[in-house]
Amino acid sequence: MAQEFDHNAIVRLGMAYAESKTLLSAVELGVFTELAKGPLDWQALRERIGIHPRAARDFFDALVALRLLRRENGRYSNTPETDLFLDRAKRTYIGGMLEMSNARLYRIWGSLTDALRTGEPKNEISEGEDIFTWLAKSPEKYREFTQAMTGLSLPSARAIAAKFPWEKYKTFADVGTAQGGLPVQVALAHPHVKGVGLDLAPVQPVFEDYVREAGLTDRLRFQVFDLFRDVIPQVDVITMGHILHGWSLKDKRSFIKKAYDALPQGGVLVVYDAMIDDNRSENVAGFMMSLTILLETREGFDYTSADCASWLREQGFRDVRAEKLIGSDSFVVGVK
Ligand SMILES: C[S@@+](CC[C@H](N)C(=O)[O-])C[C@H]1O[C@@H](n2cnc3c(N)ncnc32)[C@H](O)[C@@H]1O
Repeated sequence: MAQEFDHNAIVRLGMAYAESKTLLSAVELGVFTELAKGPLDWQALRERIGIHPRAARDFFDALVALRLLRRENGRYSNTPETDLFLDRAKRTYIGGMLEMSNARLYRIWGSLTDALRTGEPKNEISEGEDIFTWLAKSPEKYREFTQAMTGLSLPSARAIAAKFPWEKYKTFADVGTAQGGLPVQVALAHPHVKGVGLDLAPVQPVFEDYVREAGLTDRLRFQVFDLFRDVIPQVDVITMGHILHGWSLKDKRSFIKKAYDALPQGGVLVVYDAMIDDNRSENVAGFMMSLTILLETREGFDYTSADCASWLREQGFRDVRAEKLIGSDSFVVGVK
């Protein structure tokens, strides 16, 4: 008998953008933030978020079918996960990344075939610009971008705060810190540690607001810093999260060297990214991140933990080890 093949997985993947956009629109419209205040029937929820009656029930029930909402006796509520992660009023909100996906990445990904053919970015940047010089033209856009980074990195920041032996160290510098998602989690979990967030000048007010809200201004400060020009201040630990993947191999190596030169003997470099599995066949999110980087930058690419570990060893780091963090992120640690 001929083997039966199932086409459903292929078709579902081909149409996955529809499910994805349903979630992104729900975040944009504030569905989860409204429902975090209490369950609502479809009419009340529709009025709160301002959508047309024709669209409402299918949209809400689609979110139920996608396991993003619950419906009981005609009233909708969040699941425990959407309540924790997608309510804008909570500090655990990770929707910033989804907001950026909705506002920018969803459209940019529409040009993937062209990017694959040309190797050129397909975002808003013009000749001679990179994404950060483009963002620097609009403080509001830069703020949204850094909030998206916190949404992307919060789970990894928590995991690094928990898994890394911070009790052995007193100071750290987070290179390309954005809003300060990692420093805030480390400082919250380890009251003896002081840190500095290093980033380009437009990021300073965003970092300082976030650190003030977390009540950590006595232990976390910001320093205007350009990876291509400035020296990293002397600290016990340097962290680089979602930085290396945005740049060419030559730049990646030079940033690792910069960290090595800045660290004292016994100091540690921690690199985290959505690293591709060493066999290059499993971590789908790592590959999707790398294709996003194809679309967003001229020379960036994601890499495996083994690649990263070899770049650290090349610069002289010892005791280099790689570990999975959470979701698609891994980290590589090396000691000077
Ligand atoms: C992809 S984000 C990563 C943010 C954060 N580390 C995280 O993991 O979520 C890259 C960060 O690097 C910063 N950056 C870009 N170019 C830089 C440069 N030349 N020097 C220092 N920081 C830079 C950006 O402003 C941005 O905050």
